[in-house]
This record gives sequence, C-alpha cells and structure tokens, in this order.
Amino acid sequence: MQLRKKMIVAGAAAVLSLTAVAQTKNVLTVKVDKPIAAIQPTMWGVFFEDINLGADGGIYAELVKNRSFEFFKPLMGWKVEQQPFKEGALTVLNREGKNLANPRFLRVSVNDAVSGSVSITNEGFRGMGIKKGLRYDFSFMYRQAAAGITIHAALINAKNEVIGSTLLKPSEAGTSWKKTAVSFNATATEEKAHFKIWFEGTGVMDMDMISLFPEDTWKKRPGGMRADMIQLLADMKPGFLRFPGGCIVEGYDLSQRYQWKKTVGPIEDRELIINRWNFEFAHKPTPDYFQTFGLGFFEYFQLAEDMGAEALPILNCGMACQFNSAELVPLDQLDPYVQDALDLIEFANGNANTVWGKVRADMGHPAPFNLKMMGVGNENWGPQYIERLKIFQKAIKAKYPDFKLVTSSGTDPNGERFDLLNTELRKMNADIIDEHYYRRPEWFFSNARRYDNYPRNESKIFAGEYAAQSDKVVSVDNKNSWLTALSEAAFMTGLERNAGVVSMASYAPLFAHIDGWQWTPDLIWVNNLQSYGTPDYHVQKLFSVNKGTKVVPIMLNNDVVAGQDSLYASSCIDAVANELIIKIVNASGKEQTMVLSLEGVKKLAKDAKLTLLQSTNLDAVNSFSNPGNISPRESVLPWKGKKTEYKAAPYSFSILRIKIF
Ligand code: AHR
Repeated sequence: MQLRKKMIVAGAAAVLSLTAVAQTKNVLTVKVDKPIAAIQPTMWGVFFEDINLGADGGIYAELVKNRSFEFFKPLMGWKVEQQPFKEGALTVLNREGKNLANPRFLRVSVNDAVSGSVSITNEGFRGMGIKKGLRYDFSFMYRQAAAGITIHAALINAKNEVIGSTLLKPSEAGTSWKKTAVSFNATATEEKAHFKIWFEGTGVMDMDMISLFPEDTWKKRPGGMRADMIQLLADMKPGFLRFPGGCIVEGYDLSQRYQWKKTVGPIEDRELIINRWNFEFAHKPTPDYFQTFGLGFFEYFQLAEDMGAEALPILNCGMACQFNSAELVPLDQLDPYVQDALDLIEFANGNANTVWGKVRADMGHPAPFNLKMMGVGNENWGPQYIERLKIFQKAIKAKYPDFKLVTSSGTDPNGERFDLLNTELRKMNADIIDEHYYRRPEWFFSNARRYDNYPRNESKIFAGEYAAQSDKVVSVDNKNSWLTALSEAAFMTGLERNAGVVSMASYAPLFAHIDGWQWTPDLIWVNNLQSYGTPDYHVQKLFSVNKGTKVVPIMLNNDVVAGQDSLYASSCIDAVANELIIKIVNASGKEQTMVLSLEGVKKLAKDAKLTLLQSTNLDAVNSFSNPGNISPRESVLPWKGKKTEYKAAPYSFSILRIKIF
C-alpha cells in the first residue's frame, strides 16, 4: 500500500515537473480591459445522483428504511419480535389491483397485548443519526374497524437504551386510510439508533408509510432534506442542479429507468423501484438500496430554486444502460418517452390550468419553476442514440423553440464513440454537449488546453461528470486526495479560460455514505451525523464562489498559462463587485515567485484578498476526524500597483481578488 502510494506521488511528480522551475521570475500579464468571453451564471454547478445512498439514506431525511414494505423482501430493514409467539399477529398484506403503486401494508392483530410483547424495529439506513434535544416527527397511515391499540415508539441506542419515546392511540375507525402523527424529543445523540414500535391492547390495525423525520430539515420543510448535506451544496452557490443522474436515469433495463411522473404527487402514491446501484458492483453489493421517491422531481425543482440554481433534469431517451442490458425502445414506440419530456416542461412551467402545471400547483408551487433546459439521455452512445435524440429534438423544439437540450457524447472524452457522437451532434446543431471524464490526475494536468481550440460559435460544452481518479475508474481504492483536487483545479482554469464555449461544469458523483457507498471518489462524504467536503469539494466551491462575469486573458510569454513551469492560471472580472479575480495553480513542489502585471486598469486597491488551498502532502485527505485538513485559508495581501510580486506556495491553489476602479 505504502509502495503504491509512493508510485502515485512519483507519477504525479513526473507530470508536474515537466519543465524545471524557471530561474528568472515568470511574468503573468493580465489584460484587464480585454474581455474574451462572458461567463454563464450556470458555469459551475452540481451533479446529483442517487448513488452511494445519495437520496434515501442521504439527502432525503427519512430515517425509516422500507417504510411502505415495498422492498423485494417486504420486511427488509424491520425486526419483528413477539413474546410469546402467536401466529398471525404481524402480517404483510398485498392489495395488488387496488393500489399498484404501494400495494403492501402491515396488519397488526393483537389480543390483550401487553407493553413490549409484540414489536417491530426499524434499523434505518445503517442506523439512524439522532441528535440530543431535537424533535422527531413520527407518522404513519392506518385504518381500523375500532380503536383499541396503543402504539408505543422509542429510539434505541447501540446499548439498547431508550433515547426518546412517545405513544399514541389512533382514534378514527372506518375502512379508509388516515394519517396520524406525533412528535417527541431525543434525549441523547446516537449515530446508529434504531426505532422500535410496539403494540398494546386489542384490535386489528393496518399500517403503512411508517415514517420518522428530524425537525431540522433544510429550510425546515416537513418531510424534507438533511440540512447539513444540503448546506454544503448551498455554500457552493451552484449555478445549476443536475438530477437525477447519472446511470440511474437509464436503469439496468428499461423497467428500472427513472420515470419522473411516478415521483410526483402524494408520496404514498409514488411507486418504489430498485436502485440500479443495488447490484451493479459485485464487490459492493447494497441489497437494501431502493428508490422510494420521497425525493422526486418536485422536490428537486424546489431544491434548485431554494439554492438559486437552474434546474437541469435528465430524462431517459428510450435506451437502458449500455453497460448493462442496452435495451432499446423501438423508434415507432418512442412517443411516451417524448411525451414525458414535453409534459415535464409543462409540469415545470405551465400555468395551473394545464394538466401538469396543475399537478405542480397542487403540490404547493403555483408559480412556474422557469425550466430552461433538460438532458435527453445520460451516457448513451452509438447511432441508436442519435436516431432517438433526433425524434426528441424535433418534438421539443417544435413546441418550445428556445428550450435548450443537453446531449450525450458518451462515456469518454475521446475515442470512436466520442468522435461519432461529437460529429453527429454538431451536424444537428446540438445546443449543449455533455462530456464526461473520469481519468487519472495526469490527464487533468495535461488537458488544461482541451478547449482552447474548440469552435466558438457551435454547440456549447457541459463538462457534466468529471473526477480525477487516484487509482482507476470504479476502483474501491480511489481517494479524494490533495493531488486529485489540485489536478482538477489546474484543469478548471482551462474550463474558465474557455467560458466562451464551456457553459457548465460539475464534478461527479456528489455524495457518498461511509457505510453504504458503491463508487469512489466523491465530492462529499457523510455518516449518519456528520458530513465533510473533500479537497475536491473546496476546489469546486472556490471556483463557483469566485465565478466572475467575464474572462480576461492571463498570459505567460504570449501563451495561456497551462502547464509551463507547472503553473496554471485563469482570470476574470466580477463586474458586479468590480473586482479582478486571478486563479493560480502551482503544481510544483517548490514555491514560485512571479510578477503579476496588470494591463488596461486605471486604479487598483491597495490590498487584495487571498484565498489559499495548499498542502505539501499530495496524499493528504479530509476525514471525519480531520474534516478541515485541506481547507481554504483567507488573508489580506498588500498589492503594490500594476506590477506585483506573488509567491505561489508549493502545491497550491491561490485565488486573488483585487478591487479595480
Ligand atoms: O458518476 C457515476 C456514474 O458515472 C454515473 O452514473 C454515470 O453517468 C457515469 O458512468
């Protein structure tokens, strides 16, 4: 392991020191009055996929796993106990035919049951993260012929002690389902609590949608999202939110594809499906991974709006994952898929008199979400993709000519698959082409010039999924190290320099649960109580919060700064704040002194704000015990006029902001 680590660093050093650090000082010239391109407000965004327990067990704050008994094993996640055992006290019934979306429910039949004798205990998603003093909202749906059963509920810690409890006796009787709820406070903090429910009294009660939510959801929305995780996203001030993936859009086969219409409306009517990451990797099986869709398309739109980000939904294009079944919808049967796309625009933007606009309004958002773009297909490829895309493009543009479509260039940033799609998409005048790169850090360093010669007046680029891999794609050994983050920062200076062609970019995947992940590296790691941003997160955030409005050239010997002496740089103006922003990556292990020469500026402030992300250890990572190991440090830097010396620390990413007048 130690040897492998050394090899990684040695490999990186070989790339980083392509040329020896110059003896004379480099002069980086910034042409402040020569803007070359506008930076789109969407430039830096986030890619969300329900992978690594990203949604259920992740940002969706529901603590009960398998709340509606619809997992393939109906009692998965639940422990049933009875003292003494009585046949039939707890059964799962299936009302298939009467309720296709949520057919199963639990029937409790007890006769003079005493406290604690008949119980069910939910294990949560690798336990439940419970916080002392916080309110928890317990709810469920029920029906009964007569009131007779008292429900007791308690949070239990790892030592089997009660850390919060409540009880209620549902009073309504009849044949229709009712919802009831009660809240209680936790008396202790616990990372892996369980939730026990037991029954006292006599009667028959049907139960479904057994739920427990913390009070402190994002924006305090009932049934909402985990606040610490969303806050990390909101802190990035993302320009867009891409959802719901990723391969999850495609499904292993078409039956498992993401269908947005099944994710809106009352949550008890949203039909659960298996999560494709449940069984994708034999080395990381996650048999309890399903999509309950409590977090559905309405909630994604709401989240994007809350964060001030543009929504970017991605829809299935009539193709299942080509790494898996590669199932295709015949071209003459594509209509329902195309209709889903058209209806989604109506759902997001239509007024409350339209069919789908009404669904949105009834869910509590009468105002439109103002959706401007969507992706057709995720990582799809081949002529079969182009054939299907053309049908979508024609139908969507006919009805909504200004609506932008994001289109797939496949799985890799080069090769036959990419070349075919890139050629065909440009022939079709594609609005935005989505490129993906999961590559080694060396690739990121050496591709900082990738977009310098892309055509300016054709399709825009969405760098839709990228992450430097310290080992290799889908290896469980990949780490979010300072080296991976630094290489991404170097590459991103190239994205920013080319904002005239690159209009959006996002790292992927976004979240990973430490006990339930399938894919690494990931931007943000969580357990049930904590979350932290990796070094890569800080790079993403620093680019985003220092976005600027227009790119200005920064040159070294009349060339862009993209690897000479292991330096990478970009610069832009923030026309709102009236500031010049210079980003410099020093990817060498030596401090580098340079002169920053600013041309075309009348007056400058006397000092600049420096934000520095730096470590001399390329293997350094953040962790739950040391979340801030690699994190930005801010300071004020005296600025000496139009020619100022700057010392870039070894292995550093610097952001300088200077007021201009
Ligand atoms: O980000 C993880 C996966 O990588 C995505 O689901 C897919 O689009 C890509 O292959």
